[in-house]
Amino acid sequence: MLTIDNISKYIAEIKQAKSLDQLEKIHILLLAKNGFFAHEMKKLSTLSIAEKKELGQKLNLKKQEIQKEFNLQTAYLKKIQLEEKLKAEYVDLSLPIEPLPNGGIHPISKVTEQMVNIFGQMGFSVRAGTEIEDDWYNFSALNIQETHPARQDHDTFYLNALDANKNRKVLRTHTSNVQIRTMLAEKDSLTQGKPIKIISTGRTYRSDSDSTHSPMFHQLEGLYIDKIEKISIPLLFNILQEFCETFFALSTPMRFRPSYFPFTSPSFEVDIACTIKNDALQIGIRDKWLEILGSGLVHTNVLKNCGIDSEKYAGLAFGIGIERMAMLKYGFKDLRSFFNSDVRWLQYYNLMLLKYLIS
Ligand code: PHE
Repeated sequence: MLTIDNISKYIAEIKQAKSLDQLEKIHILLLAKNGFFAHEMKKLSTLSIAEKKELGQKLNLKKQEIQKEFNLQTAYLKKIQLEEKLKAEYVDLSLPIEPLPNGGIHPISKVTEQMVNIFGQMGFSVRAGTEIEDDWYNFSALNIQETHPARQDHDTFYLNALDANKNRKVLRTHTSNVQIRTMLAEKDSLTQGKPIKIISTGRTYRSDSDSTHSPMFHQLEGLYIDKIEKISIPLLFNILQEFCETFFALSTPMRFRPSYFPFTSPSFEVDIACTIKNDALQIGIRDKWLEILGSGLVHTNVLKNCGIDSEKYAGLAFGIGIERMAMLKYGFKDLRSFFNSDVRWLQYYNLMLLKYLIS
């Protein structure tokens, strides 16, 4: 039977315990609520005061002694357990890792950044636009009337949602909507003597798909509004020539071909000189012409629609297809490959150059 006199044997047992389970059993037997000490303490009430005092003291001392050993051994075993766990979970940081696949910055992002930087150097600042647009900003304000064939030319994607004028909203067909939004928001700066000189890049949408057209594509729009005497066709040509020469890093003959856009007058399409040599396109050599952008002087109706006095102010504008610039600069053959999300393609640009864009 367990008594206060033979209980000390458990001290040795605690000291030799090899596991926390083993310790727990001893704890239940001696120290827990129904253990030996609790029992003995209860029995004290039947004793005389003197006996109570003596036995009570003895019990307390023993209990403290055992509790102390128990705590020490518990701490020791827990430490060992932790060390074993750490050993089992050891990670060898010197082992070589599986190589991660490398991606690349998308060529459209790259080319967009290059283009923005070039215009930035020329003093253009960047504005953002919206891709879901009201009919008025995408068409009417740009002098594209309800019956104008350009609305059909653009193969517009219409949404079911209606705009404030009860027209169906559109996925913008060009970035020229940003011209309107910027003029409306910033026309006051003109009267304070500050020109509006901005570019905007982003996604545009037309229902069209082949090797040189994608239903979603990117444009860079430029707009420069200033006092009427500052804006001229030579200035437009100079800006575009400087841009092209910087972008392609070579001096190239350019052709400004009269054209038509409802929102510019006069309007010009711009071609650059090129030739094909050994199956590769070479820009800058005067053999054939390749169209790269649309431009012109902002139509007075557009200025009026934005509340700008066309007697005092004039503007020039241009719109450049970013995919086409990327295809020309890097020789991508099929525009749709930009949007196939093929990582292998991103890792390796197809450098075959493009014959079929040339007239
Ligand atoms: N918005 C025209 C297009 O998408 C391009 C353009 C912009 C032409 C600005 C003239 C001036 O084809």
